[in-house]
Amino acid sequence: MKIRAAITGINGYVPDDVMTNDDLAKIVDTNDEWISTRTGIKERRILKGEGLATSHMASEAVRGLLKKTNTDAKDVDLVICATVTPDFMFPSTANLVCTQVGIPTIGSFDILAACSGFLYALSIGSQFIEAGKYKKVIVIGADKMSSIIDYQDRTTCILFGDGAGAVMLEPTTEENGVMDFVLKSDGTGENHLYMKGGGSRYPSSHETVDNRWHYIRQEGQAVFKFAVTNMADVSAEIMERNNLTGEDVAWLVPHQANKRIIDATAKRMGIGDDKVMLNIQKYGNTTAATIPLCLHDYESQLKKGDNLVLAAFGGGFTWGSAYIKWAY
Ligand code: UT7
Repeated sequence: MKIRAAITGINGYVPDDVMTNDDLAKIVDTNDEWISTRTGIKERRILKGEGLATSHMASEAVRGLLKKTNTDAKDVDLVICATVTPDFMFPSTANLVCTQVGIPTIGSFDILAACSGFLYALSIGSQFIEAGKYKKVIVIGADKMSSIIDYQDRTTCILFGDGAGAVMLEPTTEENGVMDFVLKSDGTGENHLYMKGGGSRYPSSHETVDNRWHYIRQEGQAVFKFAVTNMADVSAEIMERNNLTGEDVAWLVPHQANKRIIDATAKRMGIGDDKVMLNIQKYGNTTAATIPLCLHDYESQLKKGDNLVLAAFGGGFTWGSAYIKWAY
């Protein structure tokens, strides 16, 4: 009998501090009307507190997940964390999270696929379950975007926020769980969405800091064009190869980068607004955390057997989709 990886629990965490569009209008030349109509964002959360980083939010999400799923930390087999804002270049944030929440010395590692990170990590995690190797895999998407945002750049600072989400994957022989996924990438995206400094090509120096290369840069229009086409295409692709029509899909769970991109994807899939998970208005773009935060916010509306299509697009470029049958 085929073993699949079922999501058996979900938990999200966002910091308490809220930054509204009006707050941003006090520091850069922007306004609530522009941000709302161009992106759908009204406010975002910002992690404040000395020494608090991505691992803090991820650990909060995982602690709650262990509690909700009644899981003993010592029973977890593997932890994967998707992030572009690790606490450090190394060690990996997943290593730190395990120690912070009391998960013993199991394997744990980070995945870097920008806004598609959670989708990539979920796909990887599900393979360990399907292979029969592990019984409990935690997949995290977490980003402290405020740590790499240039609050003098109005084209990017309005978009992003901080947050984390985590899911538990366990084996099932029922016809549910992660049914299929499509992963894509194209390194020509390098020049459109990137953080130039701090890596091995331009190690941190006075020069990189003077040039503000330690911040995220995005050519919004170019990324928009790629995102709008590819997120819709990859969602249509996974529906076609699984013989799903718009009517079969209970929920689209899209990466929350821009409401206009989400609307275009839903239209292409032939599904109505009432089936689209949306929380961009509250959190902005939390990069790897958007999809698990959506699942967390909508958990009470999900029913066993619901067909979910997850779709994401981000830096790299990376993009992808996953077809999930909700397991509880
Ligand atoms: O998650 C990773 C993937 N990322 C994405 O999917 C993001 C994709 N890109 C986008 O979502 C959009 O391109 C943005 C929301 C970033 C920008 O929206 P846009 O409709 O593409 O605006 P634009 O860049 O074409 O700028 C239009 C105008 C410009 O002024 P002019 O040249 O027409 O006078 C900008 O300077 O809006 C101006 N502008 C702003 N005005 C007020 C740019 N940023 C702002 C701002 N407030 N924050």
